[in-house]
Parts: sequence; structure tokens; C-alpha cells
Amino acid sequence: MKRLGILLSGRGSNFLAIADAIHAGRLTGAEIAIVISNQADSYGRKRAAALEFPTALIESKGRKRVEHDAEIIACLNEHEVDLVILAGYMRLLSPEFIAAFPNCILNIHPSLLPAFPGLDAQTQAFEYGAKVAGCTVHFVDEQLDHGAIVLQRAIPVLESDDAHSLADRILAEEHIAYPEAIGRVLSGQYALQGRRYVRKSDLAEPSHIPVK
Ligand code: GRF
Repeated sequence: MKRLGILLSGRGSNFLAIADAIHAGRLTGAEIAIVISNQADSYGRKRAAALEFPTALIESKGRKRVEHDAEIIACLNEHEVDLVILAGYMRLLSPEFIAAFPNCILNIHPSLLPAFPGLDAQTQAFEYGAKVAGCTVHFVDEQLDHGAIVLQRAIPVLESDDAHSLADRILAEEHIAYPEAIGRVLSGQYALQGRRYVRKSDLAEPSHIPVK
């Protein structure tokens, strides 16, 4: 069983989608070891506690990033976390944090990266006039919303959309994408070629035709 450490700051709907997927048997071989919030009033942590998941509040306000991250790393290690899941965690990770979990931190972003990194990606896409929007699950590296892409889900931007309805429809895709991406990563059936995530089934098989 692989152990997930969820980091969140707010609403927590992606955390709940992951918890639901595990509960329903759509995401197998994974369990939630700890849910950590850096915000005292995060609804996601309250929901996690109500569902009797282990939770921790490690407040970031007014603290140096490296010190705060060191406390989070210690908490993740204490709970023997294999894969770190950023689920609406509104704080950049220090290089020390990324080095502590090499290629073992995932993030979800509500745009088709590399378009519209950063805050309010759905509004950025809407106001830009994009005709296709979506979400991206990616490994975390030292640049914002940048690491190797595990999967993306795309939807059309409708004539009837406003920024809110678009964000709602992207969120529904996020709730499908994140459990699926976690399952793929936990299966280990992939390789990273540069910044390309390649599923093992898509890798070129050596020819079995004998060479004369
Ligand atoms: C999501 O839109 C996610 O893509 C972004 O932050 C938001 C978190 O929402 N990184 P929730 O807290 O999971 O509901």
C-alpha cells in the first residue's frame, strides 16, 4: 500500500475526490496517510478531520519558507509518505522540499499547461478567449506549474460560459484527472524522458524478429 500525504490550503474538493476514489475502489493500492494544511481555517482540513483522516495544521503565516517546509517534511516522513499530493496548496515549495521527495510530488493546475500558469488560471483562459480549457496533473519541480506532465483533460469553452461556469466545469475534470494520475504514477509503469512522462505501454518495444 502506497501512502499519500495531501497538502492543501482551502476548500479541499480535490482531496475529497481522491478520498472518494480510494473508498470506491477506483484508486487502488493507495491510502491517505496525512492531510496537512498551512491555513487554520481551511475547509479541506475540517472535512478530513470529520472523515477521521489524520490531519495536521502547520501554519505558514509569518514563517520562513525553509523552516516551514522542514516541519512539513518531518511530518510527511513521520507518516511514512511515499507520494506528496498538492491539492490546492497555495504556497511555493522550497528546493529543499523538492529534493526531499524527488519525482514524488504531484500538483494539479486548472489550465492546459504551459498556458496560463499561476493564479486564477481559469479566468486567465476565459479572458484570453481560449476555445479549449482544462486541467493538468504534473510532477513538481522548482519552477511554478512547470514539471513533467502526467495527464491533461480538455474541455471546450462554451459560448454560454463565464469565468465561473468554466472554472466549475474544469473542476469536475480535475476530480477525474487527479485520482487517475495518482494511480498511473503509483503503478510505476512510466519513464521520465527529459521532461516527457511516457507510459511504459507507449515505450517502443524491442523487436522480437531475429536479426539475420
Ligand atoms: C484547484 O482548482 C486546483 O487545480 C488548484 O487549486 C484549486 C484547489 O481546489 N491548484 P480544491 O481546494 O481542491 O477544491
